[in-house]
Amino acid sequence: PGIRIYDPAYQNTAVARSKICEIDGDKGILRYRGYPIEELAEKSNFLEVSYLLIYGELPSKTQYDAWTNQVMRHTFIHTRVQTLMQSFNYDAHPMGMFISSVAAMSTFHPEANPALAGNEIYKKDSRVRNKQILRLMGKVPTVAASCYRHRIGRHFNNPRNDLSYTENFLYMMDYLSEENYKPNPKLAKALDVLFILHADHELNCSTAAMRHIGSSLVDPYSAVAGAASALYGPLHGGANEAVLRMLEEIGSVDNVAPFLEQVKQRKRKLMGFGHRVYKNYDPRAKIIRRIAYEVFDVCGKEPLIEVAIELEKRALSDEFFTSKKLYPNVDFYSGLIYKAMGFPTDFFPVLFAIPRVAGWLAHWVESLEDPDAKIWRPRQVYTGEGKRSYVPLGVRD
Ligand code: CMC
Repeated sequence: PGIRIYDPAYQNTAVARSKICEIDGDKGILRYRGYPIEELAEKSNFLEVSYLLIYGELPSKTQYDAWTNQVMRHTFIHTRVQTLMQSFNYDAHPMGMFISSVAAMSTFHPEANPALAGNEIYKKDSRVRNKQILRLMGKVPTVAASCYRHRIGRHFNNPRNDLSYTENFLYMMDYLSEENYKPNPKLAKALDVLFILHADHELNCSTAAMRHIGSSLVDPYSAVAGAASALYGPLHGGANEAVLRMLEEIGSVDNVAPFLEQVKQRKRKLMGFGHRVYKNYDPRAKIIRRIAYEVFDVCGKEPLIEVAIELEKRALSDEFFTSKKLYPNVDFYSGLIYKAMGFPTDFFPVLFAIPRVAGWLAHWVESLEDPDAKIWRPRQVYTGEGKRSYVPLGVRD
């Protein structure tokens, strides 16, 4: 009973008030807590941006030092999480390993389990909440690097807390420069900027999933694992992997026009193009295109960049794409950078998930503090059969 508005896929429904991230899709504007993404990408770093997203303001020097120190002191994972990870097949998709391992982390912190610690523990006790934030921020890169190490049949590297967030991640991956066996500072910086760009994007599919799951007051490890599952799909964070596979399939500039014909005939999708909110160039894609060349200076040019540029050029001058306002999104160029840096293609969604944990946590905190918060429970428009009587098996046709 009552009025229900049918809004498939939440295209016109605002389900929360939020102060975290602002997008103007028509103008191509993205801001975190009011700060333009371009400025943060140029002047800040990922851990500072994470603090901003989660706690609402840029940290003071003392707050920044404490935050960085604490996150980096929470980077070690339990040996039994490592044992669990070692039980996966070597060809297991890294995102499957990542999701399962983050979910498993909830079992290692019983004091953080609302079923044991009190149903409203996260609403009532910001210390318990903050402890899990530090654990997730610290441990997620270690889990991610361990997924990779397991895939290549190597031992897991312990984190190094004296390095920056992205340097430590590259170190654990064993992505070290041959000259001094340290992570290349230019690549660590490029990855840090990519992490900033991927940290939040208001109520995208995975963040909506985080809020939805979190609204049941479950622990944040289970909620992050659920959000990461939403991210895994090719229409969302899995798009960077799908773009690279598409570019490899197209192979050369000569094949771009016939491929676009297939897209126009609706036989294919142009992966890395289009967005529910942006009806203009995704501001993150502009920054990523610039970073690509900075990474190529270090790692050598990734030849598929020519295919990507030709795709973009032709699509942006083709009525099919312009009339639908389809522009490159964040995933269009990121995969090329990851490929140039030597990451395996199926690892790309994990590289999206690591920084998005900061955004998921920011939304989790905001929803816990929201006085209007309730368990999310959308309604449906029932279109099935009316009442009918059960017919026994032997009597049915
Ligand atoms: N290639 C070809 N046609 C497209 C594409 C595309 N990539 N994206 C949208 N369209 C068409 C679509 O067929 C529809 O046409 P029509 O109105 O004639 O039926 C129109 O554009 C509107 O598309 P939609 O699917 O209704 O839009 P949506 O808001 O539901 O979907 C999207 C948004 C991102 C899922 C979609 O654009 C898409 O599938 N893009 C490719 C996958 C991708 O790059 N995903 C990453 C998104 S950005 C980062 C992230 O969220 O992870």
